[in-house]
Amino acid sequence: MSAAEGTGLIWVPQAAEIAREAGARLREFFARGVETEYKGDVDLVTVADRTSEALIKGRLAEVFPAHGVYGEEGTRERMEGEFRWYVDPLDGTTNFAHGLPQFCVSLGLERRSARLAAGEDGTIVAGVVYDPMRDELFAAERGKGATLNGKPIGVSKTAVLAESLVATGFPSHKRHDNPNIHFYHEFTLRSHGVRRAGSAALDLAYVACGRLEAFWEFNLNSWDTAAGALLVEEAGGRISDFIGGPFELDSREVLASNRRIHGELVGLFQDMFAGRNLEPIPTPREFAQRRAERAAAAMRR
Ligand code: IPD
Ligand code: CA
Ligand code: CA
Repeated sequence: MSAAEGTGLIWVPQAAEIAREAGARLREFFARGVETEYKGDVDLVTVADRTSEALIKGRLAEVFPAHGVYGEEGTRERMEGEFRWYVDPLDGTTNFAHGLPQFCVSLGLERRSARLAAGEDGTIVAGVVYDPMRDELFAAERGKGATLNGKPIGVSKTAVLAESLVATGFPSHKRHDNPNIHFYHEFTLRSHGVRRAGSAALDLAYVACGRLEAFWEFNLNSWDTAAGALLVEEAGGRISDFIGGPFELDSREVLASNRRIHGELVGLFQDMFAGRNLEPIPTPREFAQRRAERAAAAMRR
């Protein structure tokens, strides 16, 4: 009996093996240190990203020869097929390049019916996120639950944002156009805290296993989110756009949660988009003035 027959899973056993192989290569590069190149003003890429994608592309072609591959580092193969893998060969490149051990490999499988238009989403049917530094393998197939190193996982039971730990990220493109710092501020004031750990796929996996109650980000790509979105859903969580509409692979809006706090999160986004109930942020100048006033008052005492 093959591993796949033993677990009832169709794609995960082989995808997990490929993610582990790619992760092992990343670990070697990480130990050795790599040169960094720039794709944009702060968008980094390394030989590790490219080597990992080449390995994944080759192994997927061997194991699933009819499946398409859409990879961050440029792979576009068999895009007309029924199945398509979204591949982030190294999610968390900036961390990796700085020697910060928070990064992963992410493989998400979409099933596309022949009737779908090019821009329409199919169904994400499998996902694997592998953290090579912690040897943590998150996996899911639609309808079969989510696991961490083979054991079932579920989202947290926290019912309110005020008792939640949440996470976000900031894009490396068009940084000046992005309003996320306002959301970061509001979420910081309304929760136990906001983490910006630098790997969106791991952030989603952490929502799935209950380490985080929620995650949101503007402008992510399908290779960042395909696997993590399924992990969250299969672990009992919810993923949507910022106003509670359906999550789409190229929607560029990701709001994932343990489901219980989703309504509250959508309400907060709606308030923020309408400019309601925002806590003012003191400007550095206002802060400096108050600081100088306190120092002057102390001198007078
Ligand atoms: C990045 C990470 C990061 C997120 C960025 C992504 P990369 O992916 O997921 O957490 O904030 O938006 O681009 O470039 O390291 O694969
Ligand atoms: Ca990424
Ligand atoms: Ca990447």
